[in-house]
Amino acid sequence: MKTVITYGTFDLLHVGHIRLLKRARSLGDKLIVGLSTDAFNAKKGKNAIFSYDARREILMALRLVDDVFAEEDWEQKRRDIRQHNAQILAMGDDWAGKFDELSDITEVVYLPRTEAVSTTEIKTVISKITEEKLQTLDRAIEHIAKISKELR
Ligand code: CTP
Repeated sequence: MKTVITYGTFDLLHVGHIRLLKRARSLGDKLIVGLSTDAFNAKKGKNAIFSYDARREILMALRLVDDVFAEEDWEQKRRDIRQHNAQILAMGDDWAGKFDELSDITEVVYLPRTEAVSTTEIKTVISKITEEKLQTLDRAIEHIAKISKELR
């Protein structure tokens, strides 16, 4: 039984996440995910839209994922790998080289990231839509104010 371990925030789950999880899962028989807690995200300067509990519930509903545990700091990976007897640590290649020091206890694999999609990108697109709507609303309010002035 080969256990694969991976880490991430997995906020606003998208196809890049799914492909990463599929690739990671295909390396072994069991996939476990260290999911960044809200406190750890705050330390990293990340602000997830969905709470840890909601993100965990979504990941746990996937057949690709066997278990999800809390990632609370940068230092815990060695302990987790030992505790879960993980033979493979799989990370997206945005982390290439960063976890090589763990290769004394596990096989460290960097998997290709999916191009042109990320949670940050989704948030940017949504905030642009909101901004455009607010601008339209501002213009409508200005227009109504002008008409109301003319009527006085
Ligand atoms: N990932 C991926 N392809 C993407 C986005 C993410 O393979 N297009 C992988 C990351 O490399 C990581 C895992 O999915 O191994 C979780 O990434 P996470 O940081 O939670 O997702 P991002 O969408 O990259 O979020 P952000 O934009 O907030 O960094």
